[in-house]
Amino acid sequence: MVKAKIAPSMLSSDFSNLASEAERMLRCGADWLHMDIMDGHFVPNLTIGAPVIESLRKHTDAYLDCHLMVTNPLDYVEPFAKAGASGFTFHVEVCEDNWQELVKEIKSKGMKAGVSLKPGTPVEKVYPLVEAKDPVEMVLIMTVEPGFGGQKFMPEMMDKVRALRTKYPSLDIEVDGGLGPSTIDVATSAGANCIVAGSSVFGAPDPAQVISLLRKSVED
Ligand code: DX5
Ligand code: ZN
Repeated sequence: MVKAKIAPSMLSSDFSNLASEAERMLRCGADWLHMDIMDGHFVPNLTIGAPVIESLRKHTDAYLDCHLMVTNPLDYVEPFAKAGASGFTFHVEVCEDNWQELVKEIKSKGMKAGVSLKPGTPVEKVYPLVEAKDPVEMVLIMTVEPGFGGQKFMPEMMDKVRALRTKYPSLDIEVDGGLGPSTIDVATSAGANCIVAGSSVFGAPDPAQVISLLRKSVED
């Protein structure tokens, strides 16, 4: 059985109070903090980089699940490892030629390696990375076009989740985009166990209740 990991997306937090927002999410029951790194090139939005991860790390021991929506992920491995990132998830679309080197680098720096796919990318693209001698440890299926929080969940992405879960029973499969109380059961019954949720958690009057509902759906 794979374990539930509920990861509020800090993209929906008040960035001017990042440390207290992180603390609040952990108090509400979050397992991981999902950090969205956007370079304004791979996606049409610009967020935070290693210096912000480094600042946040001084305030928390939490698992920082970094999702790198960047064109040159290899350039970010060392700075993110030094800053205290826990997981480093890159996009398969930008490293068809050098993913072996990238995965090796990420792991050698003590981070957990993950690979992500945009909605238009076929799931077969990540099979070699999961089956490699030095494999990725998580696959992140985007359930919206990466770039912004608050978009609508794409249920058709569940075919990818089902295909992965059938092939790899113990793989960590993360879903990201539009997850909340009304979409979670579709994702977990397809086989997702790591759940990113931004607007549904931060926008709720009782984030702890939403987090526990998400967790229950994975565990049931
Ligand atoms: C989008 C990001 C997501 C985003 C999710 O590119 O990768 O992590 O913050 O936000 P919601 O849950 O609001 O769709
Ligand atoms: Zn994300």
